[in-house]
Amino acid sequence: MTRPSIVLRSVSKTYWRGRQSITALQNVSFEVSQGELVLLVGPSGSGKTTLLNLVAALDRPDHGDILVDGLDVTRLSRTAAAGFRNERVGMVFQSYNLLPQLTALENILLPMVARRQSNDRRAVELLEAVGLSDRRSHRPSQLSGGEQQRVAIARALVNDPPLILADEPIGNLDDETAHKIIVLLSDACRQRGKTMLLVAHDREMIGPADRVFEIRTGSLMIMERKQTSSVSQRT
Ligand SMILES: Nc1ncnc2c1ncn2[C@@H]1O[C@H](COP(=O)(O)OP(=O)(O)OP(=O)(O)O)[C@@H](O)[C@H]1O
Ligand SMILES: [Mg+2]
Repeated sequence: MTRPSIVLRSVSKTYWRGRQSITALQNVSFEVSQGELVLLVGPSGSGKTTLLNLVAALDRPDHGDILVDGLDVTRLSRTAAAGFRNERVGMVFQSYNLLPQLTALENILLPMVARRQSNDRRAVELLEAVGLSDRRSHRPSQLSGGEQQRVAIARALVNDPPLILADEPIGNLDDETAHKIIVLLSDACRQRGKTMLLVAHDREMIGPADRVFEIRTGSLMIMERKQTSSVSQRT
């Protein structure tokens, strides 16, 4: 058993809008080992994006601990959290979050610019790997939804981060392109030892996954492939 890459202990998150509250996650606990590919599935509104945002230190839980490679990401300052993301995390946002004024290639290079590095060759390689070599100078508004999604995937991989958090990375892709992207992501995990947490609405990515976490309105059931191994439920 390799050492854990992600540890969540009794993590809860409630959103407030005025007096109205929505509990997105309640007492969620799990561990993901280094190099493991975990698929997180669950219905709309069950807290999947919330969970990824907490692991990426984009937001903080109300209770509980989140350790990423031993670092407690719930206690980072904003600057330290930005540094942590840039160094350690490749994130594919559900809404892509590409910068509209930059071309596809420039968007992919963005995480490198933040590190004051630039490796156009790697970015071009990734553009090719996601099937967009001929779109390098297009801006997001000139790309289809699925093309923007693929730019976002290339951007998440460009810094070669040890942890990939991908929110519905194949949600907008046809079967053939989706298959290519799944192979690209799972190869990155298997060949480069990355830890991955991939969100999907359904079990479309179950093939390469080591484990499936099923989330139901804020609580979590963890399954080893097809059989239930342990359950972490709200109390
Ligand atoms: N910033 C916010 N303020 C208030 N409520 C929020 C906020 N973000 C999410 N929520 C609520 O928290 C719950 C979980 O949202 P989340 O985005 O994590 O779900 P999800 O599983 O990613 O859904 P989907 O599959 O539709 O993307 C939902 O009920 C949502 O309405
Ligand atoms: Mg979501």
